[in-house]
This record gives sequence, structure tokens and C-alpha cells, in this order.
Amino acid sequence: MNESDLIDLFFGGMGKLGPGSTEDTLAVLAALPAQSFDLIVDAGCGSGRHTLDLARQLRKPIHALDLYQPFLDRLQQRAQQAGLGDLVTTHCLDMAAISTHFEQIDLLWSESAVYNIGFEQALRSWFPAIRPGGFVVVSELSQIAPELPEDARRFWEKEYPGLQTFEANRAVAKAVGFQHLHTHRIPDASWVEGYYDILRPRAEAHLPHPEPAVREIAAGLLEEIRIHAANEEGFAYFFYVLKKP
Ligand SMILES: C[S@@+](CC[C@H](N)C(=O)[O-])C[C@H]1O[C@@H](n2cnc3c(N)ncnc32)[C@H](O)[C@@H]1O
Repeated sequence: MNESDLIDLFFGGMGKLGPGSTEDTLAVLAALPAQSFDLIVDAGCGSGRHTLDLARQLRKPIHALDLYQPFLDRLQQRAQQAGLGDLVTTHCLDMAAISTHFEQIDLLWSESAVYNIGFEQALRSWFPAIRPGGFVVVSELSQIAPELPEDARRFWEKEYPGLQTFEANRAVAKAVGFQHLHTHRIPDASWVEGYYDILRPRAEAHLPHPEPAVREIAAGLLEEIRIHAANEEGFAYFFYVLKKP
């Protein structure tokens, strides 16, 4: 099985590919001090649950980018079905290359995707592409407790060594040159509904799969779901709402 088959096996057809919900997206959007944006970019859009929320709410063109073309195809199809096809343009593009393709961005949105290049690297690479007075809204896994339980610490050290505390992420945003305006914590239920509750039975079904790569991914997902369920205020997904002065 190639990488694309593996992605489709576990994540194919899903309406969202990470923690978050329409309710969270719209709450964060409503908290922005501006509501009118000309150039909007959605980085790591996946199948575009939040891209559609933004397009529906703002009624402005959105440039949605991702590295995996089948997710972009699915987003395009969903946008057409929702009557939002004219507002969504997809780009198969690395989010690290945003500043070579766009300039003077008014709103750069990214949900549960920035870990792919790292929070700090993303903010540094995006900064030149944001117009003065423009916004970056990014959700990121963040440690809350000073110490994580041993199993959670080991898991995230392997899966996301870039995991930082909430305070450290705010400090990074400031050091890059952004003002931190607002934070929104994504409720734990938003990890489960439409995401873990779909992934868990898929992963369980693939545990006895003949291919070791499939078994390994299935076991990793089930471990993540277990660690999340046992998480007691150790880590959470936060939106960081940032403004370029
Ligand atoms: C956990 S999924 C989240 C997708 C979507 N934001 C959501 O919340 O449903 C992460 C997404 O980032 C995309 N991705 C990974 N590395 C990327 C990169 N360097 N540039 C753009 N997208 C990337 C993946 O293909 C995937 O769609």
C-alpha cells in the first residue's frame, strides 16, 4: 500500500480531519475586530470543513491550500454541493511556501495543520505575506500542565516533538512580531465528534490488517485516542488569534 492508499484507508471521506467544529470556527471568527477581508488563505485545509464555514459566513473568495490533492478535490466537490463553489479556489501547495505565492494577506486561517511544519516556522514564514493590520488565526496543540503524565509525554515526544506550552506559543508569536489578541480553547468534545468517533472504529477494524504499516497506523491512532481520553488538563487545542501591527 502506498502513502495515498494509507491516507484514504483511514481518513477517506471524513468531513473533518482534526479537532475543531463549525461552532469553534465561527466563535473565533466573530471575535476578530474586523469582519471584512479581501485576501483570505486557509492553510492545510484538508477536506475543508472550516473553509466552507468561512466562505459561508464571510461570502468572500477563499484560497484553500493543502499538499494532498484528493482532499482538495473533496473540498471542491463539497463547495459545489453547498453552492459555494465560486468562493473556493484550491491550491496544491506547501504552507511553508505561502509567502512566495501570496502577498498582502488580510486573513490567514489554519486549523490543526500547522504542526506539519511547526508553529514557529509557520509564523516566521507567513509573517512577510500578511499585510500590516492583517490577521493570522491558527489552532495548535498546546501543553497546559507543567508536566504531562509519563505515557502522554512519551507519546507526544514521538508524534509531535514540537509541542510547546500555551505560554511558549504566545511568546513565539510575539517574538515573530505578531500581537496576540485572543485565545479560544477547543472543547474536548470537538476532538471526538466527527473525528475520533469515526477514526476509532476504523482503526480497530484495521488492527489485524495483514500489512504492518496499516497495523502500525491503527495502533498509533488508538493510542492517541486513549491518551486524549485519559488527558486531565494536560494538553488542549487552542486557537491563537494574532495581528500583524
Ligand atoms: C490534521 S489535517 C487537518 C485538516 C483540516 N485543517 C481540518 O481541520 O479538517 C492536516 C492537513 O494538513 C495537510 N498538510 C500537511 N503538510 C502540509 C504542508 N506542508 N502544507 C500544506 N498542507 C499540509 C494534510 O494534507 C492535512 O490535510
